Amino acid sequence: MYYSDELIEEIRAKNDIVDVISGYVRLQKKGSSHFGLCPFHNEKSPSFSVSRNKQMYYCFGCGAGGNVITFLMEYENYSFLEAVQALAERAGVELPKMEYSKEAKEKADLKATLLEINKAAAQYFYVQLKSPQGQTAHRYLTERGLSEETIKAFGLGYSNKTSDDLYQYLRKKGYTEEQIRQAGLISTDEKHGVYDKFWNRVMFPIMDANSRVIGFGGRVMGDAKPKYLNSPETPVFDKSRNLYGLHRARTSRKPYFLLCEGYMDVISMHQAGFTNAVASLGTSLTTGHASLIKRYVQEVYLVYDSDEAGTKAALRAVPILKEAGIAAKVIRMEPYKDPDEFIKHLGADEFEKRIGSARNGFMFGLEILEKNYHMDSPEEKTAFFQEAARRLMGFEDELERNNYIEAVAKTYHVSAESLQKLVTKTAVREGMAKPVSRPKTAGETKIKKEDARKTSQKVLLTWMIDEERCFRAIREFVGPEDFTEPLYRTVAELLYRQYEEGKLNPAEILNHFQEEEEHREAASLFHTRIRELTTGQEKERALKETIRLVNENIIYIRIKNLPPADMAGLQQLMNEKRNLSEIEKLHISFD
Ligand code: UTP
Ligand code: MN
Repeated sequence: MYYSDELIEEIRAKNDIVDVISGYVRLQKKGSSHFGLCPFHNEKSPSFSVSRNKQMYYCFGCGAGGNVITFLMEYENYSFLEAVQALAERAGVELPKMEYSKEAKEKADLKATLLEINKAAAQYFYVQLKSPQGQTAHRYLTERGLSEETIKAFGLGYSNKTSDDLYQYLRKKGYTEEQIRQAGLISTDEKHGVYDKFWNRVMFPIMDANSRVIGFGGRVMGDAKPKYLNSPETPVFDKSRNLYGLHRARTSRKPYFLLCEGYMDVISMHQAGFTNAVASLGTSLTTGHASLIKRYVQEVYLVYDSDEAGTKAALRAVPILKEAGIAAKVIRMEPYKDPDEFIKHLGADEFEKRIGSARNGFMFGLEILEKNYHMDSPEEKTAFFQEAARRLMGFEDELERNNYIEAVAKTYHVSAESLQKLVTKTAVREGMAKPVSRPKTAGETKIKKEDARKTSQKVLLTWMIDEERCFRAIREFVGPEDFTEPLYRTVAELLYRQYEEGKLNPAEILNHFQEEEEHREAASLFHTRIRELTTGQEKERALKETIRLVNENIIYIRIKNLPPADMAGLQQLMNEKRNLSEIEKLHISFD
């Protein structure tokens, strides 16, 4: 922790959330809250609410929420520290020089140094591109249709043919060999010693959402292999949590991203005016990417290559996006290979038309599936619909499923009722076949268990936050030490303390999470709502079940950690497990 808790809380308290957010969003007072149009998703009627009482904000439309620090982190894309510093300045609070713990300082220093080295390297490559030795590289980019403006906007560069000039340059700037190695810019071999990783390549600096250079991709100018060489993962370069082009796309203010495969695709699209294009970094799309995207938009248009690999990648991406709550559409680039070539041949207007005729991700999946069946053979056609029904089962929400059933029925000219029947029949059959047909590996079971543990702890915290009156009942059975997830443990400890002191202050709790991912995760606890349950009885049953689950998990962990010969300990835990039935006697009134 860099600043003391007291100082951070002072800064937070001195920045009234309604005042701060009013600087960004036009708010109107309605009852005890202020409402406005959510800045984190596109909407026409206000569902973004800010509470002066709680000093928290929450959007009923997209679920964004948190305290005033969270708001700046989300809106300005600041780190926790940057947000605190901006707020300190705003409130006229003087900050002491950073008080680092030794470990934190080393970690922060290493990251800062690697970012500096990357920035220096990007500048070096850029200067090389503009120098006489960079002529061929520069011509290569111009011949691929890039303007000077585009080259500059993306900071493109050139790594020349000298084998260690970048290394020497960075050494002269005062960085050690070890630091430069950690930035992924050099390699060593016995015969030649240290040499630059990138040699005679056109360089694409990869930037994070805040425009900081975190790594590089380097392309050969001919047909040599590998076509692209990329920086290895480093403490500042996590390929599964960054996207190429995001630093520009995030300010495009379009409600969707165009997600493609290649660096050159992103650059071409931006140059053609589609400044909401991003690409993953030579890897397939991960859940990390999806949650990153979710911070900015709720919809993604996939613009993958037209070849089989691109089609497969698009089909894989659809469910990953859906899982994160992002709607996916698919744009085809035929007869061209990728968006770069498409735009080069047909131009921006045609590309715009393709965006307009994008296909729904699920329907696109069926179109591809259809190619495997001879639809004029009754048997194969039936088999196709059986597979379609199996996929339709995947929509857990009934309304959504029915909408898709209707769409599929219409597209493939069958009656919605008969398709509906088929889906139900398949569900029954598959549901019964599941336990035998899907033996789980040990690894899978473990992940499931951990997930279940995490989920039950999270849900219990949400209960405590959402329904203050549950606290008394819950604390009879669960203490803060029963939360095994470190983040939940911290929230629980703070929450129990606040309740016991009789002053709930959720905005203060969020101060304790300064690492970005943690902060977001903690903030999400405070805006999850126990919505689906309506009657008091339902709520009571669900809460008891959650309390029981958390306890069972604790007992399970303790049994696992018991020395093998400790029979008395085991006996004790088994008793405790039996005593969980006491939870049933608990009376929690929600009415
Ligand atoms: P592509 O082969 O489609 O390249 O790979 P591209 O971006 O269209 O580049 P041009 O138009 O041929 O110059 C898509 C992405 O896969 C990664 C890169 O991120 C690339 O942008 N890739 C590809 C690699 O990392 N290494 C490779 O050797 C090839
Ligand atoms: Mn290409």
